[in-house]
Amino acid sequence: HINDGSSLESLQVVADPSLEKRDLTFGSAVEVQGKLVKSPHRMQNMELQAETIRVVGPCDIWSFPLKMKERHPLEYVRQFPHLRCRNNTLGALLRIRSEATAATHSFFQNNGYVHIHTPIITSNDCEGAGELFQIAAKDSAEETHFFNVPAFLTVSGQLHLEVMAGAFTHVFTFGPTFRAENSQSRRHLAEFYMVEAELSFTESLQDIMQVMEDLFKTVTSTVLSKCPRDVELFHKYIAPAQKVMHVTGKNYSLVVISYSEAVEILKQAPQTFTFKPEWGCDLQTEHEKYLVKHCGEVPVFVINYPYDLKPFYMRDNEDGPQHTVAAVDLLVPGVGELCGGSLREERLPFLESRLQRLGLTDAYQWYLDLRKFGSVPHGGFGMGFERYLQYILGVDNIKDVIPFPRFSHSCLL
Ligand code: 4AD
Ligand code: MG
Repeated sequence: HINDGSSLESLQVVADPSLEKRDLTFGSAVEVQGKLVKSPHRMQNMELQAETIRVVGPCDIWSFPLKMKERHPLEYVRQFPHLRCRNNTLGALLRIRSEATAATHSFFQNNGYVHIHTPIITSNDCEGAGELFQIAAKDSAEETHFFNVPAFLTVSGQLHLEVMAGAFTHVFTFGPTFRAENSQSRRHLAEFYMVEAELSFTESLQDIMQVMEDLFKTVTSTVLSKCPRDVELFHKYIAPAQKVMHVTGKNYSLVVISYSEAVEILKQAPQTFTFKPEWGCDLQTEHEKYLVKHCGEVPVFVINYPYDLKPFYMRDNEDGPQHTVAAVDLLVPGVGELCGGSLREERLPFLESRLQRLGLTDAYQWYLDLRKFGSVPHGGFGMGFERYLQYILGVDNIKDVIPFPRFSHSCLL
């Protein structure tokens, strides 16, 4: 059985025993010439009747960690990031990932968004959560910072997209982001890919949620139709078929609840939580899980979070006494938070006073400038690409949906 990675199916080669080579073992790289004919077997369409076989690169089967005809657990192949892509499951996953990447770019390009390469090295902490990887700390000879200021790997391209939304109206980026979260969870990576969009002239959170929903539905239906065999492998062996098909339908509307409603639902839950739900607390994984279950194991938008929980850039809803911002998270079954977004504070006085209270006015002069020079209501969101793949394929661990996972205490290769 030979496979060039183009599909899940291998091509069976039929050869006369005289062509057999001593070093023709499982895992070898081969070159075969022959006739492609209709196969008499029920399980395959074609077979290759070999005329010549050349072993290009033999494989030492005794030390090769992948074994013929064995279904290796994902945790096992994770130990071999240089070889696991030859495994069926990872192979299928990476083909799906490639299709989903192309579908994401097409979705935005077809809807009039300009693609922006936001920087990987930055001097700001967009989320203000202090989960930054600092780089190039000192220029050793000079004892100064290489960039004259502390520089970090980006946690989000949002602030740079906001700059661009002021010029191009609708923009998106899709690149690696980095977070030094010391978490061993099955949904956190230190390096992950984020799809981010920013839209000018947007006054309602509904508009942002509509783009999230359209992106999710379009990319998912494209992947389901372009990679049916690869997707089937996941739905058959990895997780029972999810309700993904159902929620990608054009007529299906995603569920929306407010943060305050979410807290009420949690308070009335028949189960006890490790973290007691109270208005003002951050929703924990156990809370997100319960909310998704409560709504019928489908994606759920949660909107209008407490002002004090969220980053400085989110738009003040000016409500009270339970003070909120126009924020939205999309929670999905099996994963929890898939997307985070908000309307941005476009009003100069509001932003100025918030930055002042946080002692960030000097660092964000350029951001305040955007509110001085033709500011418009705008908003956007970010979707974790690995969490997206986890959700649509039912993959339990995020480390199995990225070619080379980086997480705390591990950076193989
Ligand atoms: O909710 P987050 O932190 O939102 C932002 O960074 C915004 N600035 C995005 C924007 O509005 N442009 O992150 C967005 C998403 C999360 O919902 C989650 O799916 C994913 O990024 N994410 C991670 N995925 C894997 N590993 C991690 N450590 C992640 N942290 C966030
Ligand atoms: Mg978030």
